[in-house]
Amino acid sequence: MERTLCIIKPDAVRNNNIGNIVAMIQAGGFRILGMKQMTISPAVAGEFYAVHKERPFYGELVEFMSSGPIVPIALEKANAVADWRTLIGATNPADAAEGTIRKLYATSVGENAVHGSDSVENGLREVGFFFGEHELI
Ligand code: RTP
Ligand code: MG
Repeated sequence: MERTLCIIKPDAVRNNNIGNIVAMIQAGGFRILGMKQMTISPAVAGEFYAVHKERPFYGELVEFMSSGPIVPIALEKANAVADWRTLIGATNPADAAEGTIRKLYATSVGENAVHGSDSVENGLREVGFFFGEHELI
């Protein structure tokens, strides 16, 4: 079993897509280990996306991710990391495959509805960023 972190981003929360995205998670066979709604500060958003610190979009990304409530969801499944990336689609919704979450619900490359961990190691680390082990079933 693998773990991966989903974050329903502020745009998708604002657009009332929490339920639609959770339905796709469940239809995709992922087990929800933990889920919460919260608003994070720019400092916390910056720490979470620290790997992108030198990228030109970092400031915009930090501002966006702290602009309103987010819903971090810890997911478990065999092959969870790759399968979740497949279900969410490409970073830019213009390039995302039909039927993917970003194709359906993202509006731009910056405001793209959901996050997905990019490796097994980062899946574990990112679940730990938002959840204590006692919060996970
Ligand atoms: P994520 O980490 O959120 O799952 O997204 P990702 O792997 O598909 O893309 P990544 O390269 O890790 O970028 C992280 C997030 O930064 C924003 N971004 N904006 N304006 C831009 O060109 C740009 N590029 C990336 C997006 O919110 C992206 O998901
Ligand atoms: Mg990424």
